[in-house]
Amino acid sequence: MPKRLDAPIGMFDSGFGGLTVARAVIDLLPKENLVYIGDTGRYPYGNKPADEVRGYAHELAWSLVRDFDAKLIVVACNTAASVALDELARELPVPVIGVVEPGARALVRVTHNNKVGVIGTVGTISSGAYVHAIRETGASVELFSAACPGFVEFVERDQTSGDEVTVLAERLLAPVRNAGVDSLLLGCTHYPYLSRVIGEVMGPNVVLVSSADETAFAVKTALEDEGLARQEGQGSHRFLSSGDIAWFADLGRRLLGPELDHAEPWVAPKLNEARKGNES
Ligand code: DGL
Repeated sequence: MPKRLDAPIGMFDSGFGGLTVARAVIDLLPKENLVYIGDTGRYPYGNKPADEVRGYAHELAWSLVRDFDAKLIVVACNTAASVALDELARELPVPVIGVVEPGARALVRVTHNNKVGVIGTVGTISSGAYVHAIRETGASVELFSAACPGFVEFVERDQTSGDEVTVLAERLLAPVRNAGVDSLLLGCTHYPYLSRVIGEVMGPNVVLVSSADETAFAVKTALEDEGLARQEGQGSHRFLSSGDIAWFADLGRRLLGPELDHAEPWVAPKLNEARKGNES
């Protein structure tokens, strides 16, 4: 079915963070078409109640399937994946990949002292998703977690270095640094943009792990397993935002690269409409 192969991978995040995953997917799978939605009109997700984030995740995922014919969905947001991945995987008619399990797998692979850290939004850390995902790997590691409220806002303001963010990082990372972890998972897709500051605060002996590459490999495997991998051509990439389009295109290009040459508006459909559209 050549049409299905040409259908895009659908990906979403609350804003710019998922672009770290988009970058990895574009690099690993250059033939694949991609539609990315950054829900900047409603970001941040990390401090919102789980039910609200779950509702957004359903709207975005269903819109990608219904309006863009996505053949696979990547939930490129830890907060959304933490609270909605299982439901989305059950409900959607296409494969769904999150960032939590791939990140957890990568984390337990790199540790030598078996003390690992995870940082993320309040929503992600309080959901317990990483405790569960690390347990599922079967690795006997000790996990230390810290929520880092404020990090996402710095990225969305394009403030990824300087005293203010460093002072905040010193304070928020203290628990994982003092625990003696030798590897730290950036359990929020925005955080790789702060990796310089985080790396300086954690010190040279701590390996920072991002889920982006591992997630891209999971996408590749799923497409191949489902017979959905595009075999030829150069992928095209569309980027949409529910917020300020000019800002999304401008900052997004600087964060992702030249593939983000312009952005389009995305308007959240009512959830029931999104689901119904798919059934008809
Ligand atoms: N990039 C997101 C994550 O991975 C969301 C951050 C937010 O909107 O608070 O959790």
